[in-house]
This record gives sequence, structure tokens and C-alpha cells, in this order.
Amino acid sequence: MASSQQKVLVVDDDRFVRMALTEALRSWTYTVVEAARVDEARRAFTDEEPAIVLLDIELPDGSGLDLLTDIKSQSPETVVVMITGSVDVTNTVAALRGGAHDFIGKPVRLEELRVTLRNAFETQELRRELKTARQELASGFSFDEIIGESKAMKDALDLARRVAESDIASVLLYGETGTGKDLFARAIHYASERAKAPYLAINCAALPATLIESELFGYEKGAFTDAKARKEGLFEQARGGTIFLDEIGELELGLQAKLLRVLEEGTFRRVGGLKDITLESRVIAASNRDLKREAEAGNFRLDLYFRLSVIQLEVPPLRERGDDVLMLAQHYIDRANLKRRGKKLKGIAPDVERIFKSYNWIGNVRELRNVIERASILEDGEIVTTAHLPADLLHTAGASSASGTFALPAGGVSLEEVEFELARQAVERTAGNLTQAAKLLDISRDQLRYKLRKSGDYDGGND
Ligand SMILES: Nc1ncnc2c1ncn2[C@@H]1O[C@H](COP(=O)(O)OP(=O)(O)OP(=O)(O)O)[C@@H](O)[C@H]1O
Ligand SMILES: [Mg+2]
Repeated sequence: MASSQQKVLVVDDDRFVRMALTEALRSWTYTVVEAARVDEARRAFTDEEPAIVLLDIELPDGSGLDLLTDIKSQSPETVVVMITGSVDVTNTVAALRGGAHDFIGKPVRLEELRVTLRNAFETQELRRELKTARQELASGFSFDEIIGESKAMKDALDLARRVAESDIASVLLYGETGTGKDLFARAIHYASERAKAPYLAINCAALPATLIESELFGYEKGAFTDAKARKEGLFEQARGGTIFLDEIGELELGLQAKLLRVLEEGTFRRVGGLKDITLESRVIAASNRDLKREAEAGNFRLDLYFRLSVIQLEVPPLRERGDDVLMLAQHYIDRANLKRRGKKLKGIAPDVERIFKSYNWIGNVRELRNVIERASILEDGEIVTTAHLPADLLHTAGASSASGTFALPAGGVSLEEVEFELARQAVERTAGNLTQAAKLLDISRDQLRYKLRKSGDYDGGND
């Protein structure tokens, strides 16, 4: 059913045609605006902003075709349906070229008009959805979505932006797992002039070599048993766009040689094909392994490494990104709040901040995201506390700071007092949860109770 916001402009110099159309349209709950002449129609179009225009071709002060052109140039989204008295091929062609959505002959059959309008509105709705989806897609992958203000990150983003603006043909992204290489690759694509063409990704670790080859290069009919028809590969499909070769370190040596040739010569052939096809897509390769070392060990072609590493962009690990870890934690807390209405997490406790900043985050941002998601489910209060951090995080963070920050004072120290002080801090940090506190100290709960009792003046935890 049409909603009353759907506005239709009816342009026809015949008063009776207008009346009949208007009556029908209103009965289908469209809002109707009428015009008898080109100038009237122009004014009505600007003032009323109809979604659809029903447009007669022969009008007293001009041609509906000219009006069509004006409307489409002013507002490409508007759907224009031509109403024609005579089926004239020249007019039809001109109108279609001008962007008309459809034609209806006179006398107008109302049922036909109804279907046409319904289709037109649907088309318009779809177009709008597609447009927003595209925008969301593009904005979701922009550099603005990459969180981080540390020096290391700023440098990486800066280089990535310059790569995006350039027409450099290949880039190597290097970074530990979970540092955001995927994010960088997409951001580079969507910030470049290639954004309108496809971004296509393939994971070299996930597919067998033969499949990767036919995926990348495509094949000719009959190239192998299953090649029933010619197929374009990713290099072709992404013409003008970007190919993301994830985990390039896993690419089989034979394919590495083929890839090198493509990059050197700027052309490739489909499997079983004889024609050279120009490479028109940018290649972004990513690896979480040190390719140089892999090359030296004979697991990766040194020449391909050199070729790819002309522009090498290192995405820094989280542990080298200073306070970024806190920004990212807050980002994931805000996101968790969106998902879980009713709960309102505000931030993280100061001791959690300290742990986050000293922890080594081998899984990088992905690991942090998981930690926050877990805590946001378990935590009922407003602050993420150590009570809801995974034990190994507490453990490792403690261990790494222990080696770095403790120094024996010149005059010596009472080991027993230090032990007690640390035990006391652990209990305080976990709000009296002895099991968690014991984990922080890497001892059993009973050992902790013993140490606390031994000092005499401790009245115990609350678990
Ligand atoms: N700087 C950042 N800002 C916001 N989100 C980030 C950032 N870095 C990483 N992420 C998020 O962390 C997760 C892991 O990132 P991504 O998949 O890009 O890592 P990767 O380097 O490709 O890892 P892998 O080597 O395992 O494929 C994603 O959910 C991503 O959105
Ligand atoms: Mg990845």
C-alpha cells in the first residue's frame, strides 16, 4: 500500500487526463500535485519535491523530453514515467536515454499505472538502500575508524594515507596478528581513487594452491576438467580496484613465482589462456610473519619479498602503542553498551588500566576486544575490574611488570614484609576475592590465606 508521503507530480495539458489520474492516485493514497505546462511543472517540481513524475511529452509551452532532462540532472533519484499519446520510436529512445523509468500509453490503463508506480517506488527504495549501504561500507572502512593516537600509529596511518593517494601498484602490510592489517587494507582502498571499483580479498592460507591460482588468474574454458566456461579471476574482477592477498607468507612457492611475474610485467594470463591481460588492480599483501626472515630461511622467495617490500607498512603491535590501549578499551566498552541495553559500563578501573598498559597483548587489538567483551558480559557494575579479567592476563601482566619494576633497595628489605604487602595489594585489587587474588600472585588460595594469617594483623578476605 502506498503511504501518503509518496508524492506524485502529474504533468499533462489535458484537464480530463489529469483529473482521472489524480483521482486514481489519491484512491491509492498517493499525494498528488498537478501541472498543465512545462513552466508550472518546473515550479511544482522545485517546490513540492515529488518522488515520482508522470510526464506527458507534448506540452503547450515545450517538450516533456526537455523537462525530463532537467529533472534528471537536478535530481537523478527522481523516477520519471512518460505518458505518451502516440508510440513514437524516436521519442521513446530519447526518453530512455534521458533517464525515464518507464512508459505508459494513452489512454492510461489504471491497473498498468498502478503496477508501474509500485515498481517505481520499489526501485527508488532499493536505490536509496544501495546508496546508504555503499556509504556505510565506505565509511566503515575509512581511516577515521582506525583508533589510535600514539606516535607509532600516527606514523603508520600517515604512510597508509600517502599510499592511498598514490598510484603505487603494490604494498606490503606487515604486523602481528590482530593489529589491524585488514582494517588498513580496506581503509587504503576506500580512501583511494579506486574506491568505486571492487576491493577483493583472498586468504592464501585458507585455500589449496590450485584453487588460489584459478581464483586469482581466472581460467579459459577447458583449461582443466571442471572449467566448463571461461571465468574471470580476482585480478580481472578487481580492475581499477584493489586485491588483498592476506597471509601472503603462506603462498605456495610456485605461485609466488607467478605473482612476481605479474607484478614485474604488469600483465597476467588466465589459466589455459594465451592472451596477456593488463593488471589494473593494486595489490596489497599482508603477513604476520617476518617475510625477510622467511625468505632467508628459504620459505619465501627473496625476489618477491624485495618486490613487495618497496613500500612496506608496519602496523604496530598494541604493546608499542602507549595509551591507545585505553582508547580502544573505551571504544569496545561503548560498543558493548550499545549491544547490551540496560547495562551501562563507564570505563575501566585504574589498576586495570595499569595491567592493560603493561600486558604484552600477543593477540593485539583482537585480544583486547575479546577481553572487553567478556568483561562487559560478566560485569554488573559500572567499571571493569580485575575480577572479570581472564586469569592469564592478570598472571602475565603481573609477571612482566615484576621483572621490570622491582629493584632491591640498597639497604636490603624484609622479604616477609614485601610478601605481605603484595598479598595485601592483591586482596585489595580483587575486592577481597581470595581466589582471584591468589591468581594474581600465582600461588594457591590456601598459600595466600597462610601468608595473610602469618602476619597476624589481617582479618581475611570475603570469599
Ligand atoms: N586501530 C584499530 N581501531 C579499531 N579497531 C581495530 C584497530 N585495529 C584492529 N582493530 C580491530 O581488531 C580486529 C582485528 O583486526 P584485523 O582483522 O584487521 O587484524 P589483522 O592484522 O588482519 O590480523 P590477522 O593477521 O590475524 O589477520 C578487528 O575486529 C578490527 O576491527
Ligand atoms: Mg587479517
